[in-house]
Amino acid sequence: MSESAMLQVLGAIAYGELKAYEGAKAKAAEAEDPEERRAWRKVAAEELRHHKGFARRIEALGGDPERAMAPYRASLDHFHGLPEERDPVAAAVCDFLGEGIAADLLRWFKTVADPETAAFVETVLADEVEHEGRAVAAVRQCIAGAPDGRRRAAAGARRMLLRMVTSSPGSGPSFLAFVRIGRPQALLGALAAGYVRRLRAVGVGPLAEVERLLRGGQAAA
Ligand SMILES: [Fe+2]
Ligand SMILES: [Fe+2]
Repeated sequence: MSESAMLQVLGAIAYGELKAYEGAKAKAAEAEDPEERRAWRKVAAEELRHHKGFARRIEALGGDPERAMAPYRASLDHFHGLPEERDPVAAAVCDFLGEGIAADLLRWFKTVADPETAAFVETVLADEVEHEGRAVAAVRQCIAGAPDGRRRAAAGARRMLLRMVTSSPGSGPSFLAFVRIGRPQALLGALAAGYVRRLRAVGVGPLAEVERLLRGGQAAA
């Protein structure tokens, strides 16, 4: 892989981690339950560690973190600035799918990165697995406690899919950076399979419509 493509992807990931940190910090500030506040503070600290670690990898490879992150600011600020789902069931599903996309991107990145970066990604993935576990528990609780929970979860999943296809960290300029590294089909396959697997895990279905949308998104990408 060329060094410049590597720096581009690291820039996209480092900025994505910074946005994840800001999001978790905001959730900690909003949380009324002290237990929940503590949990979000822990997530925020971990996302900040991820951000700083990826910035250090950029420096180690001779790049400048600010310059490497700059091309992704607009699209990631847009994605994270989209209004949150008003329905708490849909919001929980979006959170869960968002953590999942991050984990899938990192798992794929680990297979194409240099050994030092791959070793750091491994430590990040350990945290992300925990984040995903927390998010899936929240989705299950929301679905069980809400009238019509499954239908509302499926509606949230559909809207998240549209966001993903149009403006997520896995689309637009940051997605092009990932594609330049190579093996784009493997990446798309991992993202699509991850999406379907996660929805099945929370009992959302039937997925025919979602899968059709996903195929459309892949064709467009
Ligand atoms: Fe992270
Ligand atoms: Fe995370």
